Order: sequence, then C-alpha cells, then structure tokens
Amino acid sequence: MTPSFWWIVPAAGIGARMGADLPKQYLELAGKPVLAHTLERLLAVPGWRGLVLALSEDDRWWEGLPQAAHPGVIRCCGGRERGDSVLNALRVLDGRAKERDWVLVHDAARPCLRVRDVQRLLAALADDPVGGLLATPVRDTMKRADAEGRVAATVPREALWHALTPQMFRYGVLREALESAAQAGAGVTDEASAIERLGGRPRLIEGHDDNIKVTRPGDLWLARVFLQAQSEEGA
Ligand code: C5P
Repeated sequence: MTPSFWWIVPAAGIGARMGADLPKQYLELAGKPVLAHTLERLLAVPGWRGLVLALSEDDRWWEGLPQAAHPGVIRCCGGRERGDSVLNALRVLDGRAKERDWVLVHDAARPCLRVRDVQRLLAALADDPVGGLLATPVRDTMKRADAEGRVAATVPREALWHALTPQMFRYGVLREALESAAQAGAGVTDEASAIERLGGRPRLIEGHDDNIKVTRPGDLWLARVFLQAQSEEGA
C-alpha cells in the first residue's frame, strides 16, 4: 500500500532563462498554463493530504487558474531561492504535518510528470529510512569544461544520474536539512542535496526522460510533444 503524503510545489521563480514576459509556469502549453498541467497531475495522485504552493509576492496570474479555488491547495509566499520557497512551504505545514509524514516536492515547471511514476516512487520508498527522488541515468558522454570552454576532463558517466522531481523525504528531516542549509548559506538546488549535507543517502528511483523542467524557450515545444505522446499512449 502506498503511504499518504503532502505535496509542496515551488512556483515562485521568474524563469529568467526563458526570456518571456511572464514567469515560465504561466506560459501557455497545449491550451493552458504550464502550472495548470502540473497541478492537474499532482492532484490526480491518490493519497495526498494537502498541497502547499509557494508563489512570488507579485504573482498576478495564480487567481486565474482553475486550481486556485481548490480547497486542498494552500498558498504561501516564495523566497529568494528555490530552497527558501520550499522551506516557507514546510513552515506552513507546521502543526498540520507530523515529523514522520512524507513530503513530496515537485517543480511547478515540470508539467509532463507521469502519475504512475509518482506511484512507483511512493511504493518504492514507503519503508525507506531516508527517502529519495525520481532520476534518470545519464546517457551522453560527459565533459568537464575549463574557463576557456575547452575540455578539462571526461567524466565517467556510469554512475551519473539526472536529478528530477518529485523528491520524497520525511517532513521533520527535510525541514531540519533545509533550515540547516539556509543558516549555513549552502545554496542547495534540490532537497536531496540538503539531505546529503547532513549525511543522508537518498535513493534514486528511475523515472521517465519526458519529465523535463521547462527552462529554455525550446522546452515548451518539447513539452507539447511529450504531452501529446503521453495522451496517445494513455500514460
Ligand atoms: O529556476 P528553476 O528552474 O531551478 O526553478 C525550479 C522551480 O523552483 C520552479 O518551479 C520555480 O518556480 C521554483 N522557484 C521558486 N522560488 C525561487 C526560484 C525558483 O519557487 N526563488
């Protein structure tokens, strides 16, 4: 049986690399905003107890989404970095979530997440002492660059993975890890790194390559293709 859990969705970024005039989570993708796709998928996973969405203070778009009226969605303020946004959302769960409750953090900008991948993640980690994340093995040969843009080294790819989201950890441990990283100014870019800082070894659960983070302009086109392919295969 898969455990119950809380969703946390950092959606307070401005998406500067997209070069658009509105944050990337609100760009139109197959007829609706990216964030609407993402939330539809998250809310379709059985077992969630609540969803905390971290939004920028000057967000003018959220109220226009159908999910804004959903009783299970709790809104909070984002922070300067992604980790600050997640931490703010965890603080909102103070008094609602118990120390050992599972929390799944998913980027607002990943609209192609498959519900079945989340269910596999939940099932695989239900009894895990640490938690873990969806990830995909690196396929290309990897190069480390020097300051001149020349190859300094070829990095063996056998043990390398791309870290995706959702990332799944216990409420108390994740909060402690992110508070500690924030105090140390450690600038972690995902939840797993915060857990690793404290000595935890998150498990890698293989997901699908189509769980992309919309980051650059061409990614919207790719996301559209993936959504279409998923609907054709009934994913
Ligand atoms: O910028 P990046 O692509 O790494 O952002 C990943 C996710 O984190 C996005 O969904 C973005 O909205 C969110 N984010 C946030 N608060 C920030 C920066 C990013 O919630 N300060």
